[in-house]
Amino acid sequence: MPTIRIEGTEIEFESAPDDVVLRAALRSGLGFPYECNVGACGNCRFELLEGKVEHEWDSPPAWGDRDLKRNRYLGCQARALTDCRIKLRQDESCVSKHRPLRTRARLTETRPITHDISEFAFMPDEAVSFLPGQYALLDLPGVEGRRAYSMCNLPSDGGAWRFQIKRVPGGAGTAKLFDGLNEGDEVGIDGPFGMAWLREDAPRDIVCIAGGSGLSPMISIVRAAAASESLAGRQIHFFYGGRAPRDICGEALLGELPGWGEHIHYCAAISEEGHGDWPGPVGFVHDLARKELGESLAGHEIYFGGPPAMSQAVQKMLFDLKVPFGQVHFDQFF
Ligand SMILES: Cc1cc2nc3c(=O)[nH]c(=O)nc-3n(C[C@H](O)[C@H](O)[C@H](O)COP(=O)(O)OP(=O)(O)OC[C@H]3O[C@@H](n4cnc5c(N)ncnc54)[C@H](O)[C@@H]3O)c2cc1C
Ligand code: FES
Repeated sequence: MPTIRIEGTEIEFESAPDDVVLRAALRSGLGFPYECNVGACGNCRFELLEGKVEHEWDSPPAWGDRDLKRNRYLGCQARALTDCRIKLRQDESCVSKHRPLRTRARLTETRPITHDISEFAFMPDEAVSFLPGQYALLDLPGVEGRRAYSMCNLPSDGGAWRFQIKRVPGGAGTAKLFDGLNEGDEVGIDGPFGMAWLREDAPRDIVCIAGGSGLSPMISIVRAAAASESLAGRQIHFFYGGRAPRDICGEALLGELPGWGEHIHYCAAISEEGHGDWPGPVGFVHDLARKELGESLAGHEIYFGGPPAMSQAVQKMLFDLKVPFGQVHFDQFF
């Protein structure tokens, strides 16, 4: 098995021939910087000083000719073909509390949430825990590459990993999930990953902002916060954004939780004009959060999830409001 040495340190770890350098490092308990795990953000870039690697996906969006010329590769795509020596700056915040594990999982249940979001439950062959807000990689039969999906449930849910997934028109992974998988079918699953997990020791009230497919991790965060003794009584504000009334969801899921209506509050907006049947606000979900909470947003622990345009708008708003970076937790859904 190839051994990877980190330049300037005594650290080395093994990377199985069918694994990638990033995930092998995380499985060894190291703080290898990353975010998306799917070749889109570039945060896992490292310099290869010695040895040979090859990318699983030959043209990931976050990598190009300039990287190749400088001997830089993406940790989430690079397989080690020989022993390697690499240069990277480790980041302790990326060390996984629960070391990611690769296993097989069976689809046990699906249920619709909206016209294009469904919940999929998988039972992994081996028990692995996760933190609320984290995600896993699914290796779907017949689909090239892996897809990242955030868990919507709690790790105490009988071992199942549940995901709320939005169908993407023309998308290979979601086409397989929605149209090509039956209960009992098997997929590969790898996880948990991600740093946007619930901070149970944070002393502030909580804001969750979700757009479209960002529902899943935010539901997991609120479920965990509602069950947490250390967060008992905290105000939790959940903001959800969709395009049209038929996209709006989440309220019924939160309505099942203890504290609903007392300290768990829900507010949704649609972004498309012209829906006379919609009784609520029209606009973007980040504007809704700002309108409802204003300057007091800076006094909250803030979690958000959703497509890149929404994530960027939320980040800009929080920056303008001078919300300390350490209070903000998110994964962009590339
Ligand atoms: C951290 C994270 C968490 C996410 N959580 C959720 C969630 O909870 N719910 C949800 O609905 N969506 C989530 N997503 C989005 C999800 O991962 C998919 O991008 C989305 O479902 C579209 O997938 P698709 O296969 O249908 O579309 P496609 O357009 O076929 O593929 C989309 C993505 O797959 C990857 N990809 C495509 N081709 C290859 C290849 N050959 N090799 C390797 N990778 C490839 C790329 O990253 C691409 O952006 C998340 C994304 C990230 C990064
Ligand atoms: S590109 Fe590798 S973690 Fe995002």
